[in-house]
Amino acid sequence: MRIAVLGTGMVGQAVAARLDQLGHDVTLGTREPDETRTRTATDRMGNPGVGTWLEQHPSIGLATFAAAAGAAELVVNATNGSASLEVLDQAGADNLAGKVLVDIANPLDFSQGFPPTLFVKDTDSLGEQIQRAFPDTRVVKTLNTMNASLMAHPETLAGGDHSVFVSGNDEVAKKTVAELLTSIGHTDVIDLGDLSTARGTEMLLPVWVRLMNKLGTPSFNFKIVR
Ligand SMILES: NC(=O)c1ccc[n+]([C@@H]2O[C@H](COP(=O)([O-])OP(=O)(O)OC[C@H]3O[C@@H](n4cnc5c(N)ncnc54)[C@H](OP(=O)(O)O)[C@@H]3O)[C@@H](O)[C@H]2O)c1
Repeated sequence: MRIAVLGTGMVGQAVAARLDQLGHDVTLGTREPDETRTRTATDRMGNPGVGTWLEQHPSIGLATFAAAAGAAELVVNATNGSASLEVLDQAGADNLAGKVLVDIANPLDFSQGFPPTLFVKDTDSLGEQIQRAFPDTRVVKTLNTMNASLMAHPETLAGGDHSVFVSGNDEVAKKTVAELLTSIGHTDVIDLGDLSTARGTEMLLPVWVRLMNKLGTPSFNFKIVR
């Protein structure tokens, strides 16, 4: 499948690399491709800059948000939650119309430091805000409740025996996403229902960040025992 992964951070890189490995035709979306390629400095976690990462992944393309989305059959939103609506505006409603949008973004507000708060919650969610802004796009919220490396390689923790949630209004879109998740290696895909259920998974983030603080690692996940 031709897939646009909008976002060049840890999530965009991890998901793009895994989808590329599975044989999909993947292009990352970014604001300024030429500028993005110049980002070669290693970050404080020891990860290469995205410019270096792109050199290491020559089969993955880089384009503007609009060009990447326009050419894709399926689009992934792996952008900063505070910028997601703006990014999707740049991608263009026409380029997103009719397509499945896998929304991984979280509505985290770091303006008051750590732990972050949620800039939308309880009676609304970022996933629903995106769906309202792009009514012709089929938004499916998923993967936002685990760290980037587990999204792409669930098998590295407990043999993949942990859970991933799916929320969306379009049953066919959710089925497409569930199949994609299964192909990545997710073994327990829980369809929570319509997109309003994304309120619940986005509101898991306050628990997730406190667990990360306590455990001293992002390498853990929720497993729903029933
Ligand atoms: N990190 C994780 O393990 C994790 C886990 C679960 C969910 N998430 C969620 O996944 C999303 C991506 O996280 P991340 O850590 O990979 O990266 P991030 O640093 O949150 O976002 C990076 C992306 O956001 C874009 N962006 C940032 N500010 C922008 C602005 N003002 N206008 C337009 N674009 C802007 C950047 O565009 P450029 O490419 O142009 O710079 C870049 O592509 C976030 O919503 C995060 O909450 C992350």
